[in-house]
Amino acid sequence: MTEDPWHFERRELATRTLSLLTKGPAQALTMFAPRRTGKTEFLIKDLAPLAEGKGHRVIYASFWQAPLSPLAVLLHALELSLKKGKFSDRIRNTALVLAPKLRLSAPIPGAKVEAEIDLTALDKKPPSELLLYMDDLLERLARKRKATILMLDEVQELAKSPNNAPLVAALRTSLDKRSSRLKAVFTGSSREGLAAMFGARQAPFFHFATPIELETLGRPFVDHLIKIFKKSSCRTLNRTEMLTAFERLHANPFFFRNLIEVLLLDTSLGIEEAVERVRYRIAAELGYPETWLALTPVQRAVAGLLAYGVDKPFSQSSREAMATALGESAPSPARVQAALRKLNKLGLADTYTGGWALDDPEFSAWIKETQKP
Ligand SMILES: Nc1ncnc2c1ncn2[C@@H]1O[C@H](COP(=O)(O)OP(=O)(O)O)[C@@H](O)[C@H]1O
Ligand SMILES: [Mg+2]
Repeated sequence: MTEDPWHFERRELATRTLSLLTKGPAQALTMFAPRRTGKTEFLIKDLAPLAEGKGHRVIYASFWQAPLSPLAVLLHALELSLKKGKFSDRIRNTALVLAPKLRLSAPIPGAKVEAEIDLTALDKKPPSELLLYMDDLLERLARKRKATILMLDEVQELAKSPNNAPLVAALRTSLDKRSSRLKAVFTGSSREGLAAMFGARQAPFFHFATPIELETLGRPFVDHLIKIFKKSSCRTLNRTEMLTAFERLHANPFFFRNLIEVLLLDTSLGIEEAVERVRYRIAAELGYPETWLALTPVQRAVAGLLAYGVDKPFSQSSREAMATALGESAPSPARVQAALRKLNKLGLADTYTGGWALDDPEFSAWIKETQKP
């Protein structure tokens, strides 16, 4: 389905997802999982090619660390998808063509001539005529026979500013109006952030989307990479050792791909050694020491507890443990909640499994190894 030999296909999940959207009652799906677990890779390399192959128009937009406002990102993605060509080519070009000015394909409601808008100027509350324009664009993009699939990545970013509320509401209306022609997949790497959008009673997306799960990768993923590794280097990696390494790297595809890279580059390295090198590299590249030092003492104490698997750090016993660590009286539950919220905002902690936990298991491991309990 994709030209990337290292990509491990999640074909079954893609088929199931697509049929949920096209045959089932779901008009919108949500998928939330921590960062670097393969959400984007799934959308772009599994779901999109499958849907496109079956004749659907596929549109992708990511709100992650976008230099432009969500409306600008969306308008850009929608305009781009009017252009001919394959999804994979369009995606490849997205980054290249993201210029400050966007030439609109039709006049803005109320105007006569086609307009060119300055995307960088859209950082405040979106003007209503542009929301109407977006609705019009979606109308033109929504196909009758084969529903158009809108993939919106990292949507918790939309819940971060009240300025985005009109956009979220408009999007909901646009989807509602075309329930059979327009389907959506939303992903997020913050369950708390997504809940703010989909769970809050008043939120326009309330009860709107059906959650789907991105399964963690397992042995078949490891076997696939061992096979491709052999093809490209003529070396056979020990399967048992690689499976242990995969566990050691928290069954995380990003970390495991890093390991493969290290092994490809340095043929003298044993697998265990390579794992340690990867862990060292991750800590440096993801900036664990800097992240840790930027936290306040209470936030560090809370993060420390989470690293040890405590999922209710506001409980009496947890707060007493923190008192000892901090060398002061026990922080109030409100102070602990504030620290949790801050850790969540920083993308460090979330409630994927119900209770609180650190997002990145490797960061947990790093904390346990480098900090006193
Ligand atoms: N199915 C897969 N096959 C091979 N590598 C994968 C797969 N899924 C994820 N990866 C690796 O993990 C990295 C992170 O995945 P990504 O989709 O960007 O995570 P997320 O969107 O959840 O943050 C990818 O860049 C890729 O190297
Ligand atoms: Mg992603």
